[in-house]
Amino acid sequence: MAAPKRRKSAAVAILNATDDIEDFSKSETLAIRSSLLRWYDENSRDLPWRTPSAGAGSLLMPVKVDEEQRAYVVWVSEVMLQQTRVPTVMGYFNRWMEKWPTIRDLSSASLEEVNEMWAGLGYYRRARFLLEGAKSIVDEGKFPRSASELLCVKGIGDYTAGAIASIAFNEVVPVVDGNVVRVITRLRAISANPKEAGTVKLIWKLTRQLVDPSRPGDFNQALMELGATLCSSTNPSCSKCPVSDHCQAFLLSKKSQKLKVTDYPTKVAKNKQRHDFAAVSVVEIAELDEQILNDNGLKHVFLLVKRPENGLLAGLWEFPSVILMKEV
Ligand code: ADE
Repeated sequence: MAAPKRRKSAAVAILNATDDIEDFSKSETLAIRSSLLRWYDENSRDLPWRTPSAGAGSLLMPVKVDEEQRAYVVWVSEVMLQQTRVPTVMGYFNRWMEKWPTIRDLSSASLEEVNEMWAGLGYYRRARFLLEGAKSIVDEGKFPRSASELLCVKGIGDYTAGAIASIAFNEVVPVVDGNVVRVITRLRAISANPKEAGTVKLIWKLTRQLVDPSRPGDFNQALMELGATLCSSTNPSCSKCPVSDHCQAFLLSKKSQKLKVTDYPTKVAKNKQRHDFAAVSVVEIAELDEQILNDNGLKHVFLLVKRPENGLLAGLWEFPSVILMKEV
């Protein structure tokens, strides 16, 4: 008896949505680099952490750049920018740099001081990692210069490593944040789920192809800046975009009324937030006399407890509380 014919499994038959995305051609790459850098030179925002790049200056007008100082500045600003918008970060960044102008200053700070400075920015793990990273770099005696070495510092991931290595040390490596995901998925009309590992890998690969070898830091910042300004999520200004001629999403949107630039990147449902319920006790232990206000000039003194040194919100102070119910 003949063996039954096996049907090709659907998983094999269906092409992965990222398989048909082409690399950037050489000519496209060169054109995108030059248009984007020209636009950035004329339009980049004046931000306090933007000092002359590692490749700045010329033989006639050399610009002295302390690369390690620059790496520290880029590190702090990029970590702050990861979950927070530029206008909010400015104040935090300036206060931070006033208090800890160098990595050595930061390395001798306490976790309490760092958390206090970070108050309001959220995701306090970032502040703790900055402090722990600063201590380890100062102990080593030298700032790691390449993205691969930077990845060995606790709390530094692909994004931060790429940003420090390219902006401070001129290494030709890409940087991919949410803004870059938006620009690249539009340039290449990538409709695959942008959160899936295969899509993330593809976006890093495409971005790596584009990075300008002579100005990697400026190029990476230009790509992020484009995503943060003209190539916005809901209201992109394609008529002003320096790379719209190379943008497949834009070209498709001109051909078909059904397609919009804002269809990219594909929207994916967010994980449902979990709600826990706790009873919190706010206990005032003293009301100070006007004459003896505490160090911060505050009158009311409350009972606080310190959270454990590991786990969520490690080492932070909070009102005493008990969890009543955890949502599953
Ligand atoms: N967003 C986060 N970091 C940035 C940078 N260095 N330049 C522009 N936008 C950014």
